[in-house]
Amino acid sequence: MVLVSLILFFVLFSRSVVPSCYIATGNSLICSKFTSINYSDFNKTIQGTLKHQNAKLEDIKDLHMYDVALTEFTRIILTFPQLQSVSVSSSSCFFLDNNNIKQIKARTFWKIRKLVKLVLNNNNISIIEPNAFLGLIKLETLELASNKIQRLQSQAFAGLFKLKELILEDNSIYSIEPKAFEGLSELSYILLNSNNLQSVDGKTFMKLPSLRHLFIESNQLKSLSSTAFENVPSLIDLHLGFNKIETLDKNTFSKLSDLLILDLSSNKIAALPEGLFNATRLLKDVALNGNKLQKIPNNLFTNLNKLTTIFLSNNEIKYVDADAFKGLPKLKTIGLSGNKLKQFNISILYDSSLLCVVFLKSNQISMLSLSDLAQFNNLKTVDVSGNPLAVYNVQEIQKKYPLANLRKYNICKENNLKSSAPKQRMDISVDLSLPDF
Ligand SMILES: *[C@@H]1O[C@H](CO)[C@@H](O)[C@H](O)[C@H]1NC(C)=O
Ligand SMILES: *[C@@H]1O[C@H](CO)[C@@H](O)[C@H](O)[C@H]1NC(C)=O
Ligand SMILES: *[C@@H]1O[C@H](CO)[C@@H](O)[C@H](O)[C@H]1NC(C)=O
Ligand SMILES: *[C@@H]1O[C@H](CO)[C@@H](O)[C@H](O)[C@H]1NC(C)=O
Ligand SMILES: *[C@@H]1O[C@H](CO)[C@@H](O)[C@H](O)[C@H]1NC(C)=O
Repeated sequence: MVLVSLILFFVLFSRSVVPSCYIATGNSLICSKFTSINYSDFNKTIQGTLKHQNAKLEDIKDLHMYDVALTEFTRIILTFPQLQSVSVSSSSCFFLDNNNIKQIKARTFWKIRKLVKLVLNNNNISIIEPNAFLGLIKLETLELASNKIQRLQSQAFAGLFKLKELILEDNSIYSIEPKAFEGLSELSYILLNSNNLQSVDGKTFMKLPSLRHLFIESNQLKSLSSTAFENVPSLIDLHLGFNKIETLDKNTFSKLSDLLILDLSSNKIAALPEGLFNATRLLKDVALNGNKLQKIPNNLFTNLNKLTTIFLSNNEIKYVDADAFKGLPKLKTIGLSGNKLKQFNISILYDSSLLCVVFLKSNQISMLSLSDLAQFNNLKTVDVSGNPLAVYNVQEIQKKYPLANLRKYNICKENNLKSSAPKQRMDISVDLSLPDF
């Protein structure tokens, strides 16, 4: 008890006092616990730190501030003539009230012309005024994850001519005004996962000619307008999983001729319109697992001759037409587990001579012929567990196409649904390469 009190006292005490900075490798300056800072205090500490570590202001390229009251934020940043990257966040739950940025006013960063990266994750930002970031003419990365933003106002990001990555994950965004992203001509990556968007139309993502990676997972999307992606023709991956999408218009993706990855998993889609993929000729990976599909329209995938992965597991598919997967020469992985298939003749996939992994787990299939499977020279894994097949049939199949193969890294080489997002963002991109179905 005494020990606990002592520790608690120490924690509280130490957190509430000593403001400090240190220089880490790579010329980063890390500062914390300036909860009631004024500029002259900050300057004093900085000068002391530099002296102590034998460094110059010009050496500092990176500034990380934790638990900092930001009344004189830009003045602090301006102290460092060579600063390229700034991050400000709250690391402690003790000071949430007074050290969080709540609002970014217009021209907050007006004079800071060299900054390439600005990280404002884990603050309490709810309002971004129009022109908030005006002046950051070199900024390439802006991170605003885990704040309380509800609305993206028109011109919120005005002046960010070089911005490539915009991170808005884990906010409460329900509204994006038509001109919110205007002028972001180099923007290539937007992360909007875990927000409250209910719909997306042609005005949401306006004039984003360079946008290649768009993540809107775990929002409240119910529908996608047919114009939703008409102004982002360069998209190569689109992630819409974990929403409430019920219907899709046949033209939803009709401008996305560069699209490689489409993730619509875990929605409420009951039917797919014919011609949905007519324009997306380069599509490689499609995830439609976890929806309410009952059938696959004939020719839906026809002529997608780059398609390598189709995930359709955990739907309500009762029957697959003989032409459903016709003409898919690159197909390597197909997931149909967790459906209501009573029969499935693998020979409907004969056009796909590279077929490598087939998931048919938890259906009602009573017959699957080993000799039909034997036609596929590259087949490595077939999961037929949970079907009313004869025991010897299951044993034969699993012996020849063992599930153990699944654990082998890259069993079919490059069959995956990995985002082709920039390297540094691989951590948050979804890897659905071999999901458990
Ligand atoms: C800054 O804080 C120091 C000590 O806390 C105080 O002496 C000084 O007057 C303050 N300066 C301003 C401009 O508030
Ligand atoms: C910061 O402190 C140094 C050394 O104490 C001083 O020379 C310098 O003028 C101060 N800078 C500002 C902008 O106040
Ligand atoms: C965040 O800001 C809102 C108002 O914008 C305030 O009501 C709330 O208490 C703040 N939360 C924290 C944890 O500081
Ligand atoms: C899609 O393409 C097929 C043939 O490639 C064509 O028959 C069909 O009419 C097209 N559907 C739509 C909706 O454009
Ligand atoms: C599957 O279809 C092929 C070709 O139509 C046929 O030869 C084969 O007998 C069928 N297999 C079963 C188990 O019905």
